[in-house]
Amino acid sequence: MDTNILFFPEIDSTNSYALEHLDQLMDGTMIVADSQTAGRGRFARKWVSDSGNVHMSIVLKPDSLNYKLISGIGLFVAVIISRVLEDYKVSSQIKWPNDILVGGKKIGGILVESSIQGSVLRGLVVGIGLNLQLPDTSLISQPVTALCQHIPIVNRDEVVRKVNSIFFKAYREFSVLGVPSIRDEYLRKMKVLSKVTIQIGTSTITGKIRGIDAQGNLEIERDSGTIVVINSGEIIDK
Ligand code: BTN
Repeated sequence: MDTNILFFPEIDSTNSYALEHLDQLMDGTMIVADSQTAGRGRFARKWVSDSGNVHMSIVLKPDSLNYKLISGIGLFVAVIISRVLEDYKVSSQIKWPNDILVGGKKIGGILVESSIQGSVLRGLVVGIGLNLQLPDTSLISQPVTALCQHIPIVNRDEVVRKVNSIFFKAYREFSVLGVPSIRDEYLRKMKVLSKVTIQIGTSTITGKIRGIDAQGNLEIERDSGTIVVINSGEIIDK
């Protein structure tokens, strides 16, 4: 796939830009910004987006019928970011569905958004935030870390190029096979928790993680032995 990188010194949000210009942007385009004034995270949280960190979005225009790709893309990108970190000899863990942790602290996150018109998928936007330097932690409620705390300073553009090449090397296989193409690696890297509580909207479910299914849903076994399949939520155990 041809890739095209658009760079902005400052933007509101690379995801917002991609969604607003989806029709003009080619499949595979990357939007990169040095800083964001309105960076967004999952659950409508603010994403602190100081200059020098990685803020990027990848535009994907898969066939609307490619449910394998659509349902698992967030998990796939989590694996890609962990491979990028591995390339810098930094080992990371993934907290389902797609938080990236190093030493138990969050170093990066992924926000997948889609634009649907009627029954047609106009496109997917995969936003990636990765801390190379420590953001203002007083604004963040969870433990965070940055690449500079683990290795000497790295160049942001080099990291973006690595994300690009590692992503597109694996994307074709993923778009055909879906989550099974990365499942073993995902499970190996998944943060091990004996018992978890998952927040789903205003309710919670507690149980043991049993795995992830072919769509990337989390399989939880409750104390009663019932298996619950969860497609969206947040693990809230520390
Ligand atoms: C999360 O963990 O909550 C996801 C964070 C995603 C942040 C990235 S930064 C680039 C892109 N643009 C945004 O506004 N958000 C994503």
